[in-house]
Amino acid sequence: MQKRELVNEAIDTLKLNWRDGFTVPKNKLYPFQWNWDSGFTCLGHACFEPQWAMRELTSLFSGQWANGMIPHIIFHSETESTYFPNHDFWQAEVNPGAPPKPKTSGISQPPVHGFILEVLFNKFSDDPNWVAFVKAIFPKVLHSHRYFYTYRDPKSEGLAFLYHPWESGRDNSPIWDESIARIEIDKATLPPYTRKDTQLANQEERPTSDQYDRYVYLLELGKKHQYDGPGIFEESPMLVQDTLINAILIQSNQSLIRIGERLGLDTGELKEWQAQSTSAYREKLWNEDLATFTCYDLRSQAQIEHKEIGGLTALSAEVASADQAKKLNDYLQNLHDRGYYLCPSFDVDSPLFDSKRYWRGPIWPQMNWLIYRGLKAYGFQDTAEIVKNDLLELVSRLGFYEYFEAQKSVAAHLENGYGGGQFSWTSACVLDLLMVDG
Ligand code: DGY
Repeated sequence: MQKRELVNEAIDTLKLNWRDGFTVPKNKLYPFQWNWDSGFTCLGHACFEPQWAMRELTSLFSGQWANGMIPHIIFHSETESTYFPNHDFWQAEVNPGAPPKPKTSGISQPPVHGFILEVLFNKFSDDPNWVAFVKAIFPKVLHSHRYFYTYRDPKSEGLAFLYHPWESGRDNSPIWDESIARIEIDKATLPPYTRKDTQLANQEERPTSDQYDRYVYLLELGKKHQYDGPGIFEESPMLVQDTLINAILIQSNQSLIRIGERLGLDTGELKEWQAQSTSAYREKLWNEDLATFTCYDLRSQAQIEHKEIGGLTALSAEVASADQAKKLNDYLQNLHDRGYYLCPSFDVDSPLFDSKRYWRGPIWPQMNWLIYRGLKAYGFQDTAEIVKNDLLELVSRLGFYEYFEAQKSVAAHLENGYGGGQFSWTSACVLDLLMVDG
Protein backbone atom coordinates (compact mmCIF):
# COMPACT_ATOMS: atom_id res chain seq x y z
CA MET A 1 0.00 0.00 0.00
CA GLN A 2 1.24 3.48 -0.82
CA LYS A 3 1.43 6.21 1.81
CA ARG A 4 -1.76 7.94 0.62
CA GLU A 5 -3.75 4.69 0.75
CA LEU A 6 -2.44 3.92 4.23
CA VAL A 7 -3.42 7.38 5.46
CA ASN A 8 -6.91 7.08 3.97
CA GLU A 9 -7.49 3.63 5.39
CA ALA A 10 -6.29 4.69 8.82
CA ILE A 11 -8.69 7.65 8.82
CA ASP A 12 -11.56 5.47 7.58
CA THR A 13 -10.89 2.96 10.36
CA LEU A 14 -10.90 5.63 13.06
CA LYS A 15 -14.16 7.01 11.66
CA LEU A 16 -15.63 3.51 11.64
CA ASN A 17 -14.72 2.99 15.30
CA TRP A 18 -15.84 6.46 16.44
CA ARG A 19 -18.97 6.36 18.64
CA ASP A 20 -19.89 10.05 18.84
CA GLY A 21 -17.66 10.95 21.77
CA PHE A 22 -15.18 8.10 22.09
CA THR A 23 -13.55 5.35 20.04
CA VAL A 24 -13.89 1.60 20.44
CA PRO A 25 -10.59 -0.24 19.89
CA LYS A 26 -12.38 -2.77 17.69
CA ASN A 27 -16.06 -3.31 17.00
CA LYS A 28 -17.50 -6.27 18.99
CA LEU A 29 -14.16 -7.62 20.29
CA TYR A 30 -13.60 -4.46 22.39
CA PRO A 31 -16.93 -2.59 22.13
CA PHE A 32 -16.36 0.08 24.83
CA GLN A 33 -13.75 2.72 25.62
CA TRP A 34 -10.40 1.37 26.79
CA ASN A 35 -8.05 3.47 28.86
CA TRP A 36 -4.66 3.34 27.12
CA ASP A 37 -6.20 2.61 23.73
CA SER A 38 -8.05 5.91 23.92
CA GLY A 39 -4.81 7.77 24.65
CA PHE A 40 -3.05 6.42 21.57
CA THR A 41 -6.18 6.90 19.51
CA CYS A 42 -5.99 10.65 20.19
CA LEU A 43 -2.78 10.70 18.13
CA GLY A 44 -4.86 9.72 15.13
CA HIS A 45 -7.71 12.13 15.80
CA ALA A 46 -5.13 14.92 16.05
CA CYS A 47 -4.21 14.29 12.41
CA PHE A 48 -7.65 14.86 10.89
CA GLU A 49 -10.29 15.82 13.52
CA PRO A 50 -8.54 17.33 16.56
CA GLN A 51 -11.85 18.06 18.33
CA TRP A 52 -12.32 14.32 18.63
CA ALA A 53 -9.18 14.08 20.76
CA MET A 54 -10.71 16.52 23.27
CA ARG A 55 -13.95 14.60 23.26
CA GLU A 56 -12.16 11.27 23.58
CA LEU A 57 -10.30 12.39 26.70
CA THR A 58 -13.39 14.07 28.15
CA SER A 59 -15.33 10.82 27.77
CA LEU A 60 -12.54 8.81 29.34
CA PHE A 61 -12.21 11.10 32.33
CA SER A 62 -15.99 11.00 32.88
CA GLY A 63 -15.27 7.54 34.29
CA GLN A 64 -12.62 8.72 36.78
CA TRP A 65 -13.11 7.50 40.35
CA ALA A 66 -12.93 9.72 43.44
CA ASN A 67 -9.61 8.04 44.33
CA GLY A 68 -8.19 9.29 41.01
CA MET A 69 -8.23 5.99 39.14
CA ILE A 70 -9.00 6.00 35.44
CA PRO A 71 -10.60 2.59 34.93
CA HIS A 72 -9.30 0.39 32.16
CA ILE A 73 -12.76 0.13 30.57
CA ILE A 74 -15.55 2.70 30.46
CA PHE A 75 -18.81 0.96 29.60
CA HIS A 76 -20.57 3.82 27.82
CA SER A 77 -23.18 1.34 26.64
CA GLU A 78 -24.89 -0.94 29.15
CA THR A 79 -26.60 -3.04 26.50
CA GLU A 80 -23.60 -4.10 24.38
CA SER A 81 -23.21 -7.81 25.03
CA THR A 82 -20.26 -9.01 22.96
CA TYR A 83 -17.62 -8.61 25.68
CA PHE A 84 -16.74 -10.43 28.87
CA PRO A 85 -16.32 -9.27 31.65
CA ASN A 86 -19.03 -6.65 31.28
CA HIS A 87 -20.01 -3.96 33.83
CA ASP A 88 -22.37 -6.29 35.71
CA PHE A 89 -19.49 -8.69 36.35
CA TRP A 90 -17.10 -5.97 37.54
CA GLN A 91 -19.65 -4.39 39.89
CA ALA A 92 -17.55 -1.26 40.32
CA GLU A 93 -20.26 0.11 42.61
CA VAL A 94 -18.66 -1.88 45.46
CA ASN A 95 -16.40 1.18 45.68
CA PRO A 96 -18.30 4.28 46.84
CA GLY A 97 -16.00 6.49 44.74
CA ALA A 98 -16.91 4.85 41.43
CA PRO A 99 -19.22 7.06 39.36
CA PRO A 100 -22.80 5.76 39.09
CA LYS A 101 -22.52 6.48 35.35
CA PRO A 102 -20.75 5.67 33.15
CA LYS A 103 -20.25 2.15 34.47
CA THR A 104 -16.60 1.13 34.64
CA SER A 105 -14.21 -1.71 35.38
CA GLY A 106 -12.31 -1.73 38.69
CA ILE A 107 -8.64 -1.62 37.63
CA SER A 108 -6.52 0.79 35.62
CA GLN A 109 -3.99 0.58 32.77
CA PRO A 110 -0.65 2.23 31.84
CA PRO A 111 -1.18 5.99 32.44
CA VAL A 112 -0.42 7.30 28.97
CA HIS A 113 -2.61 10.40 29.11
CA GLY A 114 -0.01 12.77 30.51
CA PHE A 115 2.37 12.35 27.60
CA ILE A 116 -0.42 12.15 25.06
CA LEU A 117 -1.67 15.46 26.41
CA GLU A 118 1.78 16.95 25.83
CA VAL A 119 1.84 15.72 22.22
CA LEU A 120 -1.54 17.38 21.69
CA PHE A 121 -0.56 20.55 23.53
CA ASN A 122 2.64 20.90 21.50
CA LYS A 123 0.61 20.60 18.33
CA PHE A 124 -2.23 22.96 19.21
CA SER A 125 -0.78 25.39 21.74
CA ASP A 126 -1.68 28.37 19.54
CA ASP A 127 -5.36 27.55 19.87
CA PRO A 128 -6.98 29.11 23.00
CA ASN A 129 -9.58 26.31 23.13
CA TRP A 130 -6.81 23.78 23.46
CA VAL A 131 -5.00 25.80 26.11
CA ALA A 132 -8.24 26.00 28.12
CA PHE A 133 -8.81 22.26 27.63
CA VAL A 134 -5.30 21.35 28.77
CA LYS A 135 -5.63 23.57 31.85
CA ALA A 136 -8.98 21.98 32.74
CA ILE A 137 -7.88 18.37 32.34
CA PHE A 138 -4.41 18.77 33.90
CA PRO A 139 -5.63 18.35 37.54
CA LYS A 140 -7.54 15.21 36.55
CA VAL A 141 -4.51 13.61 34.93
CA LEU A 142 -2.44 14.61 37.95
CA HIS A 143 -5.05 13.00 40.22
CA SER A 144 -4.82 9.78 38.19
CA HIS A 145 -1.07 9.70 38.94
CA ARG A 146 -1.80 10.37 42.62
CA TYR A 147 -3.89 7.18 42.56
CA PHE A 148 -0.80 5.12 41.66
CA TYR A 149 1.38 6.76 44.30
CA THR A 150 -1.30 6.51 47.01
CA TYR A 151 -2.87 3.11 46.45
CA ARG A 152 -0.16 1.23 44.59
CA ASP A 153 2.99 2.19 46.42
CA PRO A 154 2.32 1.42 50.10
CA LYS A 155 6.04 1.47 51.01
CA SER A 156 6.61 4.79 49.20
CA GLU A 157 9.32 3.41 46.93
CA GLY A 158 8.33 5.43 43.88
CA LEU A 159 7.28 2.25 42.01
CA ALA A 160 3.64 1.29 41.57
CA PHE A 161 2.51 -2.34 41.85
CA LEU A 162 -0.11 -4.17 39.84
CA TYR A 163 -2.10 -7.21 40.94
CA HIS A 164 -3.88 -8.10 37.70
CA PRO A 165 -2.27 -8.84 34.30
CA TRP A 166 -4.93 -6.71 32.57
CA GLU A 167 -3.53 -3.64 34.32
CA SER A 168 -0.21 -4.10 32.56
CA GLY A 169 -1.80 -4.06 29.10
CA ARG A 170 0.28 -7.22 28.41
CA ASP A 171 -2.33 -9.71 29.58
CA ASN A 172 -0.74 -13.09 28.93
CA SER A 173 2.95 -12.20 28.83
CA PRO A 174 5.11 -15.04 30.24
CA ILE A 175 6.36 -12.56 32.84
CA TRP A 176 3.14 -13.14 34.76
CA ASP A 177 3.22 -16.95 34.53
CA GLU A 178 4.86 -17.53 37.88
CA SER A 179 2.66 -15.04 39.72
CA ILE A 180 -0.60 -16.42 38.43
CA ALA A 181 0.56 -20.01 38.93
CA ARG A 182 0.40 -19.27 42.68
CA ILE A 183 -3.37 -19.02 42.40
CA GLU A 184 -5.20 -22.17 43.38
CA ILE A 185 -8.21 -22.40 41.15
CA ASP A 186 -11.22 -23.97 42.77
CA LYS A 187 -13.91 -24.27 40.10
CA ALA A 188 -16.55 -24.62 42.82
CA THR A 189 -15.90 -21.10 44.14
CA LEU A 190 -14.98 -19.35 40.88
CA PRO A 191 -18.09 -17.55 39.54
CA PRO A 192 -19.40 -19.08 36.33
CA TYR A 193 -18.56 -17.09 33.20
CA THR A 194 -18.45 -17.40 29.42
CA ARG A 195 -15.67 -15.88 27.36
CA LYS A 196 -16.70 -13.88 24.32
CA ASP A 197 -13.28 -13.04 22.87
CA THR A 198 -12.63 -16.52 21.48
CA GLN A 199 -15.87 -16.31 19.48
CA LEU A 200 -14.57 -13.17 17.79
CA ALA A 201 -10.82 -13.77 17.38
CA ASN A 202 -8.73 -16.84 16.66
CA GLN A 203 -8.39 -18.86 19.87
CA GLU A 204 -4.70 -19.52 19.21
CA GLU A 205 -4.02 -15.80 19.22
CA ARG A 206 -5.71 -15.18 22.59
CA PRO A 207 -4.95 -16.12 26.22
CA THR A 208 -5.82 -19.68 27.28
CA SER A 209 -8.89 -20.72 29.35
CA ASP A 210 -6.66 -21.52 32.30
CA GLN A 211 -5.29 -17.98 32.18
CA TYR A 212 -8.84 -16.60 32.05
CA ASP A 213 -9.76 -18.50 35.22
CA ARG A 214 -6.86 -16.76 36.92
CA TYR A 215 -7.88 -13.35 35.54
CA VAL A 216 -11.38 -13.91 36.96
CA TYR A 217 -9.94 -14.99 40.31
CA LEU A 218 -7.92 -11.76 40.56
CA LEU A 219 -10.91 -9.66 39.49
CA GLU A 220 -12.91 -11.23 42.34
CA LEU A 221 -10.07 -10.55 44.75
CA GLY A 222 -10.09 -6.88 43.78
CA LYS A 223 -13.88 -6.71 44.10
CA LYS A 224 -13.71 -8.23 47.59
CA HIS A 225 -11.50 -5.29 48.60
CA GLN A 226 -13.55 -2.58 46.83
CA TYR A 227 -10.76 -2.45 44.23
CA ASP A 228 -8.58 -0.12 46.27
CA GLY A 229 -8.47 -1.59 49.78
CA PRO A 230 -5.20 -2.49 51.56
CA GLY A 231 -6.31 -6.15 51.51
CA ILE A 232 -5.18 -6.32 47.89
CA PHE A 233 -1.56 -5.71 48.87
CA GLU A 234 -1.88 -8.15 51.77
CA GLU A 235 -3.57 -10.99 49.90
CA SER A 236 -2.91 -10.95 46.18
CA PRO A 237 -0.75 -13.83 44.89
CA MET A 238 0.28 -11.45 42.12
CA LEU A 239 2.04 -8.27 43.20
CA VAL A 240 4.48 -6.85 40.70
CA GLN A 241 6.25 -3.56 40.07
CA ASP A 242 5.89 -3.47 36.31
CA THR A 243 8.47 -2.00 33.92
CA LEU A 244 5.82 -0.67 31.55
CA ILE A 245 3.38 0.92 34.01
CA ASN A 246 6.22 2.60 35.85
CA ALA A 247 7.99 3.79 32.71
CA ILE A 248 4.76 5.27 31.39
CA LEU A 249 4.09 6.90 34.74
CA ILE A 250 7.55 8.48 34.64
CA GLN A 251 7.10 9.58 31.02
CA SER A 252 3.73 11.14 31.83
CA ASN A 253 5.03 12.77 35.03
CA GLN A 254 7.70 14.48 32.95
CA SER A 255 5.18 15.64 30.37
CA LEU A 256 2.92 17.05 33.08
CA ILE A 257 5.89 18.85 34.63
CA ARG A 258 6.70 20.50 31.28
CA ILE A 259 3.06 21.39 30.63
CA GLY A 260 2.64 22.73 34.17
CA GLU A 261 5.72 24.91 33.87
CA ARG A 262 4.52 26.39 30.61
CA LEU A 263 1.07 27.12 32.00
CA GLY A 264 2.16 28.27 35.48
CA LEU A 265 0.52 25.29 37.25
CA ASP A 266 1.79 23.68 40.45
CA THR A 267 4.24 20.85 39.69
CA GLY A 268 5.72 20.37 43.19
CA GLU A 269 4.08 17.01 43.87
CA LEU A 270 5.02 15.73 40.42
CA LYS A 271 8.66 16.66 40.86
CA GLU A 272 8.87 14.81 44.16
CA TRP A 273 7.35 11.65 42.68
CA GLN A 274 9.54 11.93 39.64
CA ALA A 275 12.84 12.19 41.53
CA GLN A 276 12.02 9.09 43.55
CA SER A 277 10.56 7.07 40.66
CA THR A 278 13.43 7.65 38.25
CA SER A 279 16.14 6.53 40.66
CA ALA A 280 14.07 3.56 41.92
CA TYR A 281 13.37 2.45 38.35
CA ARG A 282 17.02 2.63 37.29
CA GLU A 283 18.31 0.83 40.32
CA LYS A 284 15.69 -1.70 41.30
CA LEU A 285 14.53 -2.83 37.86
CA TRP A 286 17.80 -2.99 35.91
CA ASN A 287 19.29 -6.47 35.44
CA GLU A 288 22.91 -6.32 34.34
CA ASP A 289 23.15 -10.00 33.27
CA LEU A 290 20.13 -9.72 30.99
CA ALA A 291 21.10 -6.16 30.02
CA THR A 292 17.53 -4.99 30.32
CA PHE A 293 14.99 -3.63 32.80
CA THR A 294 12.86 -6.31 34.48
CA CYS A 295 9.66 -6.36 36.51
CA TYR A 296 10.03 -6.88 40.27
CA ASP A 297 7.92 -9.51 42.02
CA LEU A 298 7.02 -8.20 45.48
CA ARG A 299 5.84 -11.64 46.59
CA SER A 300 9.05 -13.54 45.86
CA GLN A 301 11.11 -10.37 46.36
CA ALA A 302 13.06 -10.92 43.19
CA GLN A 303 13.25 -9.59 39.67
CA ILE A 304 11.25 -11.51 37.07
CA GLU A 305 14.15 -12.51 34.88
CA HIS A 306 12.90 -12.28 31.33
CA LYS A 307 13.67 -10.02 28.39
CA GLU A 308 10.42 -8.50 27.23
CA ILE A 309 9.02 -5.38 25.73
CA GLY A 310 8.19 -3.56 28.98
CA GLY A 311 11.91 -3.11 29.63
CA LEU A 312 12.29 -1.26 26.34
CA THR A 313 9.83 1.44 27.37
CA ALA A 314 12.56 2.82 29.62
CA LEU A 315 13.72 4.39 26.35
CA SER A 316 10.55 6.35 25.68
CA ALA A 317 10.42 7.37 29.34
CA GLU A 318 14.08 8.46 28.98
CA VAL A 319 14.74 6.85 32.35
CA ALA A 320 17.58 4.61 31.10
CA SER A 321 21.15 5.83 31.58
CA ALA A 322 23.22 6.27 28.40
CA ASP A 323 24.90 2.90 29.01
CA GLN A 324 21.59 1.11 29.68
CA ALA A 325 20.06 2.67 26.58
CA LYS A 326 22.98 1.49 24.44
CA LYS A 327 22.43 -2.08 25.67
CA LEU A 328 18.75 -1.91 24.79
CA ASN A 329 19.62 -0.59 21.36
CA ASP A 330 22.16 -3.43 20.83
CA TYR A 331 19.47 -5.95 21.79
CA LEU A 332 17.11 -4.59 19.13
CA GLN A 333 19.82 -4.40 16.46
CA ASN A 334 20.68 -8.03 17.12
CA LEU A 335 17.05 -9.11 16.67
CA HIS A 336 16.87 -7.18 13.44
CA ASP A 337 20.06 -8.83 12.16
CA ARG A 338 18.56 -12.23 12.96
CA GLY A 339 15.45 -11.74 10.82
CA TYR A 340 12.86 -10.56 13.33
CA TYR A 341 10.55 -7.64 12.94
CA LEU A 342 11.03 -5.09 15.71
CA CYS A 343 9.98 -5.11 18.48
CA PRO A 344 8.93 -8.64 19.57
CA SER A 345 6.94 -8.48 22.79
CA PHE A 346 8.88 -11.34 24.38
CA ASP A 347 12.34 -12.91 24.32
CA VAL A 348 12.56 -14.83 21.03
CA ASP A 349 15.17 -17.20 22.54
CA SER A 350 12.97 -18.28 25.42
CA PRO A 351 11.01 -21.57 25.23
CA LEU A 352 8.03 -19.44 26.35
CA PHE A 353 8.15 -17.33 23.17
CA ASP A 354 5.05 -17.79 21.00
CA SER A 355 5.11 -15.60 17.92
CA LYS A 356 1.33 -15.48 17.47
CA ARG A 357 -0.23 -15.59 20.93
CA TYR A 358 -1.08 -12.07 22.05
CA TRP A 359 1.71 -10.79 24.37
CA ARG A 360 3.93 -13.85 24.24
CA GLY A 361 5.84 -12.70 21.16
CA PRO A 362 3.96 -10.65 18.52
CA ILE A 363 4.67 -7.07 17.43
CA TRP A 364 2.34 -4.40 18.88
CA PRO A 365 1.89 -1.11 16.96
CA GLN A 366 1.60 1.22 19.96
CA MET A 367 4.77 -0.27 21.43
CA ASN A 368 6.64 0.46 18.21
CA TRP A 369 5.37 4.03 18.34
CA LEU A 370 6.72 4.44 21.88
CA ILE A 371 10.05 2.71 21.27
CA TYR A 372 10.62 4.59 18.01
CA ARG A 373 10.39 7.87 19.89
CA GLY A 374 12.55 6.56 22.71
CA LEU A 375 15.33 5.46 20.36
CA LYS A 376 15.25 8.83 18.65
CA ALA A 377 15.50 10.61 21.99
CA TYR A 378 18.75 8.73 22.70
CA GLY A 379 20.11 9.36 19.20
CA PHE A 380 19.73 5.80 17.89
CA GLN A 381 18.30 7.05 14.62
CA ASP A 382 19.02 3.89 12.56
CA THR A 383 17.25 1.52 14.91
CA ALA A 384 14.42 4.02 15.30
CA GLU A 385 13.88 3.96 11.53
CA ILE A 386 13.80 0.14 11.53
CA VAL A 387 11.19 0.14 14.32
CA LYS A 388 9.05 2.59 12.39
CA ASN A 389 9.48 0.97 8.97
CA ASP A 390 8.85 -2.56 10.27
CA LEU A 391 5.48 -1.43 11.59
CA LEU A 392 4.61 0.38 8.36
CA GLU A 393 5.63 -2.65 6.30
CA LEU A 394 3.54 -5.03 8.43
CA VAL A 395 0.47 -2.81 8.26
CA SER A 396 0.73 -2.07 4.58
CA ARG A 397 1.15 -5.76 3.73
CA LEU A 398 -1.15 -7.38 6.31
CA GLY A 399 -3.69 -4.69 7.28
CA PHE A 400 -4.57 -2.58 10.30
CA TYR A 401 -4.49 -5.43 12.82
CA GLU A 402 -4.14 -5.46 16.59
CA TYR A 403 -0.76 -7.28 16.55
CA PHE A 404 1.57 -9.02 14.12
CA GLU A 405 3.87 -11.98 13.54
CA ALA A 406 7.41 -11.30 14.77
CA GLN A 407 9.35 -13.70 12.51
CA LYS A 408 9.90 -12.35 9.02
CA SER A 409 10.15 -15.85 7.54
CA VAL A 410 6.71 -16.74 8.95
CA ALA A 411 5.09 -13.37 8.19
CA ALA A 412 6.13 -13.74 4.54
CA HIS A 413 3.52 -16.52 4.17
CA LEU A 414 0.68 -14.73 5.97
CA GLU A 415 -2.12 -12.66 4.54
CA ASN A 416 -3.21 -10.90 7.70
CA GLY A 417 -2.11 -9.80 11.14
CA TYR A 418 -3.35 -11.25 14.42
CA GLY A 419 -6.25 -10.48 16.79
CA GLY A 420 -8.75 -7.88 15.64
CA GLY A 421 -8.59 -6.13 12.25
CA GLN A 422 -9.57 -2.48 11.61
CA PHE A 423 -7.93 -1.64 14.91
CA SER A 424 -8.00 1.88 16.33
CA TRP A 425 -4.56 2.32 17.87
CA THR A 426 -2.88 0.70 14.90
CA SER A 427 -4.56 3.28 12.67
CA ALA A 428 -3.72 6.15 15.01
CA CYS A 429 -0.05 5.25 15.43
CA VAL A 430 0.40 4.73 11.69
CA LEU A 431 -1.28 8.06 10.95
CA ASP A 432 0.95 9.87 13.40
CA LEU A 433 4.09 8.21 12.02
CA LEU A 434 3.14 9.03 8.43
CA MET A 435 1.69 12.51 8.83
CA VAL A 436 3.71 13.97 11.66
CA ASP A 437 6.95 12.13 11.37
CA GLY A 438 7.16 10.86 7.86
C1 DGY B 1 -9.03 -8.07 26.94
O1 DGY B 1 -10.23 -8.21 27.20
O2 DGY B 1 -8.39 -8.81 26.20
C2 DGY B 1 -8.33 -6.93 27.50
O3 DGY B 1 -7.00 -6.92 27.23
C3 DGY B 1 -8.58 -6.79 28.97
O4 DGY B 1 -8.84 -5.49 29.12
